[in-house]
Amino acid sequence: MRVLVVYCHPSRTSFTHEVQERFCEGLRAAGHEIVMSDLYDMDFRTDMPEEEFLRETYYRGDLPVPDDVRAEQDKIESCDGIAFIYPVFWTEAPAKLVGWFDRVWTAGYAYADCTMRILDKALFIACAGKTLQSLEETGNKAAMETVMLGDRINQRAREKRMVFLDGISHYDEELIAQMKPKHLETAYELGRTF
Ligand SMILES: Cc1cc2nc3c(=O)[nH]c(=O)nc-3n(C[C@H](O)[C@H](O)[C@H](O)COP(=O)(O)O)c2cc1C
Repeated sequence: MRVLVVYCHPSRTSFTHEVQERFCEGLRAAGHEIVMSDLYDMDFRTDMPEEEFLRETYYRGDLPVPDDVRAEQDKIESCDGIAFIYPVFWTEAPAKLVGWFDRVWTAGYAYADCTMRILDKALFIACAGKTLQSLEETGNKAAMETVMLGDRINQRAREKRMVFLDGISHYDEELIAQMKPKHLETAYELGRTF
Protein backbone atom coordinates (compact mmCIF):
# COMPACT_ATOMS: atom_id res chain seq x y z
CA MET A 1 0.00 0.00 0.00
CA ARG A 2 1.13 3.58 -0.58
CA VAL A 3 0.67 5.52 2.66
CA LEU A 4 0.71 9.28 3.20
CA VAL A 5 2.13 10.05 6.65
CA VAL A 6 1.09 13.51 7.85
CA TYR A 7 3.43 14.20 10.73
CA CYS A 8 3.16 17.30 12.88
CA HIS A 9 5.44 18.12 15.81
CA PRO A 10 7.68 21.17 16.29
CA SER A 11 10.60 19.21 17.84
CA ARG A 12 12.72 16.34 16.60
CA THR A 13 13.69 15.43 20.17
CA SER A 14 10.05 14.62 21.02
CA PHE A 15 8.42 11.33 21.85
CA THR A 16 6.08 11.92 18.89
CA HIS A 17 9.09 12.01 16.56
CA GLU A 18 10.22 8.60 17.85
CA VAL A 19 6.69 7.32 17.30
CA GLN A 20 6.80 8.55 13.70
CA GLU A 21 10.13 6.80 13.15
CA ARG A 22 8.92 3.50 14.61
CA PHE A 23 5.64 3.67 12.68
CA CYS A 24 7.54 4.22 9.41
CA GLU A 25 9.90 1.33 10.24
CA GLY A 26 6.82 -0.86 10.62
CA LEU A 27 5.40 0.36 7.30
CA ARG A 28 8.70 -0.37 5.55
CA ALA A 29 8.95 -3.83 7.17
CA ALA A 30 5.55 -4.66 5.69
CA GLY A 31 6.62 -3.44 2.24
CA HIS A 32 4.45 -0.31 2.24
CA GLU A 33 5.58 2.76 0.35
CA ILE A 34 5.76 6.02 2.35
CA VAL A 35 4.87 9.50 1.16
CA MET A 36 5.69 12.06 3.86
CA SER A 37 4.21 15.42 4.77
CA ASP A 38 6.26 16.73 7.70
CA LEU A 39 4.29 19.93 8.27
CA TYR A 40 6.88 21.82 10.36
CA ASP A 41 9.77 20.74 8.15
CA MET A 42 7.83 21.90 5.07
CA ASP A 43 6.80 25.07 6.89
CA PHE A 44 3.33 24.36 5.52
CA ARG A 45 1.17 27.48 5.64
CA THR A 46 -1.78 26.81 7.89
CA ASP A 47 -3.41 30.18 8.43
CA MET A 48 -6.12 30.73 5.85
CA PRO A 49 -5.78 33.80 3.61
CA GLU A 50 -8.93 35.75 2.63
CA GLU A 51 -8.99 34.48 -0.96
CA GLU A 52 -9.12 30.88 0.27
CA PHE A 53 -11.73 31.77 2.87
CA LEU A 54 -13.94 33.26 0.13
CA ARG A 55 -13.44 30.21 -2.04
CA GLU A 56 -14.51 27.88 0.77
CA THR A 57 -17.34 29.88 2.29
CA TYR A 58 -19.01 31.16 -0.86
CA TYR A 59 -18.12 28.14 -3.00
CA ARG A 60 -16.17 30.44 -5.31
CA GLY A 61 -14.89 27.58 -7.41
CA ASP A 62 -13.50 30.14 -9.87
CA LEU A 63 -10.82 31.08 -7.36
CA PRO A 64 -7.68 28.97 -7.68
CA VAL A 65 -6.56 26.23 -5.33
CA PRO A 66 -3.03 27.28 -4.27
CA ASP A 67 -0.08 25.17 -5.41
CA ASP A 68 0.91 24.04 -1.89
CA VAL A 69 -2.65 22.83 -1.23
CA ARG A 70 -2.88 21.13 -4.65
CA ALA A 71 0.43 19.35 -3.90
CA GLU A 72 -1.06 17.87 -0.71
CA GLN A 73 -4.21 16.81 -2.57
CA ASP A 74 -2.04 15.19 -5.28
CA LYS A 75 -0.22 13.24 -2.57
CA ILE A 76 -3.55 12.00 -1.20
CA GLU A 77 -4.72 10.99 -4.68
CA SER A 78 -1.51 8.98 -5.18
CA CYS A 79 -1.98 7.06 -1.90
CA ASP A 80 -4.24 4.25 -0.67
CA GLY A 81 -4.12 5.20 3.00
CA ILE A 82 -3.31 8.09 5.29
CA ALA A 83 -1.82 8.25 8.79
CA PHE A 84 -1.67 11.32 11.03
CA ILE A 85 0.89 11.43 13.85
CA TYR A 86 0.85 14.35 16.28
CA PRO A 87 0.76 15.39 19.96
CA VAL A 88 -2.53 16.38 21.57
CA PHE A 89 -2.57 20.15 22.17
CA TRP A 90 -5.55 21.37 24.23
CA THR A 91 -7.69 18.37 23.28
CA GLU A 92 -7.01 18.95 19.58
CA ALA A 93 -4.23 18.52 17.10
CA PRO A 94 -1.59 21.30 16.97
CA ALA A 95 -2.87 24.38 15.10
CA LYS A 96 -0.56 23.51 12.20
CA LEU A 97 -2.40 20.25 11.56
CA VAL A 98 -5.84 21.79 12.13
CA GLY A 99 -4.84 24.43 9.54
CA TRP A 100 -3.77 21.67 7.14
CA PHE A 101 -7.36 20.38 7.21
CA ASP A 102 -8.72 23.94 6.89
CA ARG A 103 -6.75 24.48 3.69
CA VAL A 104 -6.42 21.00 2.11
CA TRP A 105 -10.04 19.88 2.58
CA THR A 106 -11.28 22.32 -0.10
CA ALA A 107 -14.75 22.72 -1.63
CA GLY A 108 -14.92 20.66 -4.81
CA TYR A 109 -12.32 18.29 -3.37
CA ALA A 110 -13.22 17.09 0.14
CA TYR A 111 -16.81 18.46 0.31
CA ALA A 112 -19.38 20.19 -1.91
CA ASP A 113 -19.08 18.07 -5.09
CA CYS A 114 -16.47 15.92 -3.41
CA THR A 115 -13.94 14.50 -5.88
CA MET A 116 -11.48 13.14 -3.31
CA ARG A 117 -10.69 9.45 -3.65
CA ILE A 118 -12.07 7.23 -0.90
CA LEU A 119 -9.03 5.94 0.94
CA ASP A 120 -8.75 2.33 2.09
CA LYS A 121 -7.66 3.37 5.56
CA ALA A 122 -7.18 6.43 7.79
CA LEU A 123 -5.27 6.17 11.06
CA PHE A 124 -4.67 8.80 13.74
CA ILE A 125 -1.88 8.31 16.26
CA ALA A 126 -2.29 10.98 18.93
CA CYS A 127 0.39 11.27 21.63
CA ALA A 128 -1.11 12.54 24.87
CA GLY A 129 0.29 13.80 28.14
CA LYS A 130 -2.79 12.62 30.04
CA THR A 131 -3.61 9.01 30.75
CA LEU A 132 -6.23 7.18 28.72
CA GLN A 133 -8.32 6.86 31.88
CA SER A 134 -8.32 10.63 32.34
CA LEU A 135 -9.10 11.27 28.65
CA GLU A 136 -12.04 8.85 28.89
CA GLU A 137 -13.41 10.20 32.19
CA THR A 138 -13.43 13.81 30.96
CA GLY A 139 -14.99 12.90 27.59
CA ASN A 140 -11.94 14.37 25.85
CA LYS A 141 -11.13 11.13 24.04
CA ALA A 142 -14.67 10.89 22.65
CA ALA A 143 -14.55 14.57 21.62
CA MET A 144 -11.32 14.06 19.67
CA GLU A 145 -12.68 10.91 18.02
CA THR A 146 -15.84 12.76 16.98
CA VAL A 147 -13.84 15.57 15.39
CA MET A 148 -11.19 13.46 13.65
CA LEU A 149 -13.04 10.27 12.72
CA GLY A 150 -16.60 11.59 12.55
CA ASP A 151 -16.04 14.93 10.87
CA ARG A 152 -12.60 15.20 9.22
CA ILE A 153 -12.52 11.63 7.86
CA ASN A 154 -16.23 10.81 7.90
CA GLN A 155 -16.84 8.79 4.68
CA ARG A 156 -13.47 9.67 3.18
CA ALA A 157 -11.95 6.31 4.19
CA ARG A 158 -13.41 2.80 4.29
CA GLU A 159 -11.65 1.95 7.55
CA LYS A 160 -10.75 4.52 10.20
CA ARG A 161 -9.13 4.31 13.58
CA MET A 162 -7.71 6.56 16.28
CA VAL A 163 -5.06 5.37 18.75
CA PHE A 164 -3.92 7.34 21.80
CA LEU A 165 -0.39 6.83 23.10
CA ASP A 166 -1.00 8.18 26.58
CA GLY A 167 0.83 9.17 29.75
CA ILE A 168 3.61 11.08 27.96
CA SER A 169 3.75 14.08 30.25
CA HIS A 170 7.24 15.50 30.73
CA TYR A 171 6.22 16.37 34.31
CA ASP A 172 6.50 12.70 35.08
CA GLU A 173 9.58 11.13 33.49
CA GLU A 174 9.02 7.97 35.55
CA LEU A 175 5.64 7.41 33.94
CA ILE A 176 7.15 8.09 30.51
CA ALA A 177 9.91 5.53 31.12
CA GLN A 178 7.21 3.01 31.99
CA MET A 179 4.93 3.78 29.01
CA LYS A 180 7.46 4.52 26.26
CA PRO A 181 8.69 1.01 25.27
CA LYS A 182 5.11 -0.30 25.04
CA HIS A 183 3.98 2.71 22.97
CA LEU A 184 6.92 2.52 20.58
CA GLU A 185 6.18 -1.16 20.04
CA THR A 186 2.53 -0.26 19.36
CA ALA A 187 3.67 2.38 16.83
CA TYR A 188 5.81 -0.20 15.03
CA GLU A 189 2.95 -2.74 14.97
CA LEU A 190 0.48 -0.11 13.69
CA GLY A 191 2.87 0.47 10.78
CA ARG A 192 3.52 -3.22 10.15
CA THR A 193 -0.19 -4.07 10.14
CA PHE A 194 -1.40 -0.93 8.36
C1 LIG B 1 0.42 23.49 24.10
C2 LIG B 1 0.27 22.11 24.62
C3 LIG B 1 -0.98 21.63 24.95
C4 LIG B 1 -1.15 20.33 25.41
N1 LIG B 1 -2.40 19.88 25.68
C5 LIG B 1 -2.59 18.61 26.03
C6 LIG B 1 -3.90 18.11 26.23
O1 LIG B 1 -4.90 18.81 26.09
N2 LIG B 1 -4.05 16.82 26.59
C7 LIG B 1 -2.97 15.97 26.73
O2 LIG B 1 -3.18 14.81 27.03
N3 LIG B 1 -1.70 16.42 26.56
C8 LIG B 1 -1.48 17.72 26.20
N4 LIG B 1 -0.20 18.19 25.98
C9 LIG B 1 0.95 17.26 26.11
C10 LIG B 1 1.38 16.79 24.71
O3 LIG B 1 0.36 16.02 24.15
C11 LIG B 1 2.72 16.08 24.71
O4 LIG B 1 3.53 16.90 23.93
C12 LIG B 1 2.63 14.69 24.17
O5 LIG B 1 2.27 13.91 25.23
C13 LIG B 1 3.76 14.07 23.48
O6 LIG B 1 5.03 14.31 24.04
P1 LIG B 1 6.13 14.90 23.04
O7 LIG B 1 5.78 16.34 22.85
O8 LIG B 1 7.48 14.67 23.67
O9 LIG B 1 6.01 14.17 21.73
C14 LIG B 1 -0.01 19.49 25.55
C15 LIG B 1 1.26 20.00 25.24
C16 LIG B 1 1.40 21.27 24.77
C17 LIG B 1 2.78 21.78 24.44
